[in-house]
Amino acid sequence: MQSIRRVTLAVTGGIAAYKSCEFVRALKKTGIDVHVAMTEHATAFVGPITFEALTAHPVALTEWTPGGQGTMPHIALNQDCDLLIVMPATANILAKAANGIADDLVSSLILARRQPVLFVPAMNRFMWDNPATQRNVARLKADGALFAGPVCGYQACGDNGAGRMIEPDEVMDLLPGLLTPKSLAGRRVVLTAGPTFEPIDDVRGITNRSSGRQGFEIARAARDAGADVTLIAGPTTLPTPYGIKRINTVTARDMLKAVTQTLDSKGADIFIGVAAVADWRVTNAKEGKIKKIDGCLPELQFEENPDILRTVGERSDVAVKIGFAAEATNLENYARVKCNSKHADLIVGNIAHQALGSDQNDVLFVTPNNAESFGPAEKHVVAEEIIRRAALILNTKETH
Ligand code: C5P
Repeated sequence: MQSIRRVTLAVTGGIAAYKSCEFVRALKKTGIDVHVAMTEHATAFVGPITFEALTAHPVALTEWTPGGQGTMPHIALNQDCDLLIVMPATANILAKAANGIADDLVSSLILARRQPVLFVPAMNRFMWDNPATQRNVARLKADGALFAGPVCGYQACGDNGAGRMIEPDEVMDLLPGLLTPKSLAGRRVVLTAGPTFEPIDDVRGITNRSSGRQGFEIARAARDAGADVTLIAGPTTLPTPYGIKRINTVTARDMLKAVTQTLDSKGADIFIGVAAVADWRVTNAKEGKIKKIDGCLPELQFEENPDILRTVGERSDVAVKIGFAAEATNLENYARVKCNSKHADLIVGNIAHQALGSDQNDVLFVTPNNAESFGPAEKHVVAEEIIRRAALILNTKETH
């Protein structure tokens, strides 16, 4: 992950400009230094003084009143800057940027950039859908510009459709991985995450301490590597990372059904089974609530749940299969047995009681003939390493 320390934020004239204030605060909170430039139209929506107060820097407004940025603000604001963000990006600025027009400070700033640029568009849906805008976006993407959103939703003009700006916290979610090399561009990744919940009655059930965090971080890392990601989650309250399709499930059988349907309908290059799937389910689960009667214990009967990873392992249409092994002891041996019996290309082993619910993970990468340890490291770092290895396995398989 390439770290972002300094951002120049170009604010153009849309009502969503007020959300850029909140965005600046979020950037500052993570220690990123922010300089702001605004178009004349943007100042009709938010006063420059607001951004000046939030950034502790003067706001650049025109080429001619440098505002403390030196005599050429379109050059100065690009110096020592890791990323240029245009948020909100109007149809007008997209049109200018796509055509290399530089007739005011913000358009000159975009043309004079030497660092990556991220456009966060916001406009009425008819403006977004207009073929001219779509042509401009395609041209900017072909030129290497990055885009976040827009999404469908309620618009300030009263319309409902594509063109609504994504939320500042969603842009924040994308930032750490924005400059990651796109090793999985055009690939599809399907993964499971979180615990499952197997009912005993309509109130009680059997579950485990998996938080889902490792799986959600892997989904993010796959997205950042350019993949189209479907995340099949068990019961967890974690928010869905931006840009990822999430399917919520409860039991192991629900989860298997969602995995099978997703693979049958859309296919996948990589499957990663991160979920801590319950090994057994109660066969005599009751409707309603089992009444507590003093001195009387319910008799539960169990049967085995389907093994999702093994089921996917037997499919020839998924190139790479990766699983986890949470063990109490004898990690390498058990992980290797799992790797073979589930037809996985890689098993990520960890010591269960250390990994579950923790922010960190200390793992052993086990393949049929090798084992390498990694960590302890933050779960997002482990996730990036898993995706790096997945891309490598995929490329190796395809070139042999
Ligand atoms: O057999 P065990 O549960 O230890 O294997 C763990 C690996 O298998 C994990 O990748 C987990 O997601 C997957 N698994 C599964 N379905 C099950 C049990 C485990 O996909 N029923």
